[in-house]
Amino acid sequence: MLNDEPKEQQNDTSLDAVLRPNSWGNYIGQETIKKNLSILIRASREREEPVEHLLFYGPSGLGKTTLAYLVAKEMGVSMKITSGPAIERAGDLASILTNLMPGEILFIDEIHRLNKMIEEILYPAMENRQLDIIIGKGPGARSIQIDLPPFSLIAATTRISLLSSPLRARFSGGIFKLDYYIPEEIKKIILNSAKILKIPVDEDAALFLAERSRFTPRVANRLLKRARDYAQIHRYEKINLEVVQKTLELLQIDEHGLEEHDRKILESIVLKFNGGPVGVQTLAAAASEEIGTIEDVYEPYLLRLGFLEKTPRGRKATEKAFGLFGKKLPQQKLV
Ligand SMILES: Nc1ncnc2c1ncn2[C@@H]1O[C@H](COP(=O)(O)OP(=O)(O)OP(=O)(O)O)[C@@H](O)[C@H]1O
Ligand SMILES: [Mg+2]
Repeated sequence: MLNDEPKEQQNDTSLDAVLRPNSWGNYIGQETIKKNLSILIRASREREEPVEHLLFYGPSGLGKTTLAYLVAKEMGVSMKITSGPAIERAGDLASILTNLMPGEILFIDEIHRLNKMIEEILYPAMENRQLDIIIGKGPGARSIQIDLPPFSLIAATTRISLLSSPLRARFSGGIFKLDYYIPEEIKKIILNSAKILKIPVDEDAALFLAERSRFTPRVANRLLKRARDYAQIHRYEKINLEVVQKTLELLQIDEHGLEEHDRKILESIVLKFNGGPVGVQTLAAAASEEIGTIEDVYEPYLLRLGFLEKTPRGRKATEKAFGLFGKKLPQQKLV
């Protein structure tokens, strides 16, 4: 239901809300997406139509929800937020859709977790603003059609491969892939956030943090907040290189941005499974993590850094991962 907000809203402290960019100018990077969206939005506004349905995908923390908010803001419309797992029954979706105001945006987070039966209700709603619902059961059941107000659907997912192709095809406004950020962009995000938090940060300290932020704005903001805590407690007037080094040491984040849980995953592939291949279920059990968390949060970054390789038979550790534990990749396993 609507009050079941996406995961990051639930534990969104007011600080995180403050750090969320509220204009395109503060939304750093993702230039191609911004250009495309800006044309789409301007054209829709000129025609006085809702923007066509949009899908944003990419790893967690890269700015999908933020983009949805910005589209709503630019369109000058309000946005209702829900998520795939929160829509349990057909009636839930029907009530959300029929209660939308004309022109309003419906944001469905984690759309890959939408039940298939409910997905089918979404098709005609997205295509021609029609809601087809079956009333009753058995021989007496009948289908009724309800016209919906004009609306835009914006959906987000970390797992595009789990979306059926009929569903993907209905995002007529476009499907946009968010990419990891480069350290320079992350540095800009850190400097902007530091201004909002009213704490000076040295350039080299910002870059040092940026290089260990997993190319991810959410992580960058989290590390900045921890550095701010450290500076405050130890009476530093600004965040300098020493502060960020001490902060990362305390958080056990290494020069690659790897944290304890990443090392645990890699360590178990390298040491317990002799480099793999190992299935994700086995890996999750060995590293005491949830499968979804490994797939959505840890793995994309480890793949990106070249510590991990995905094969049809499972995950494999690369030479680089073996190196992390002072080991060499067994000869027959050279990848
Ligand atoms: N391009 C950006 N510029 C500046 N800050 C950003 C940008 N993208 C994201 N952020 C910051 O990172 C935080 C996380 O972004 P957001 O919640 O939009 O990610 P998400 O892709 O929706 O993640 P999830 O898949 O976990 O829901 C935001 O609150 C914002 O502060
Ligand atoms: Mg989100």
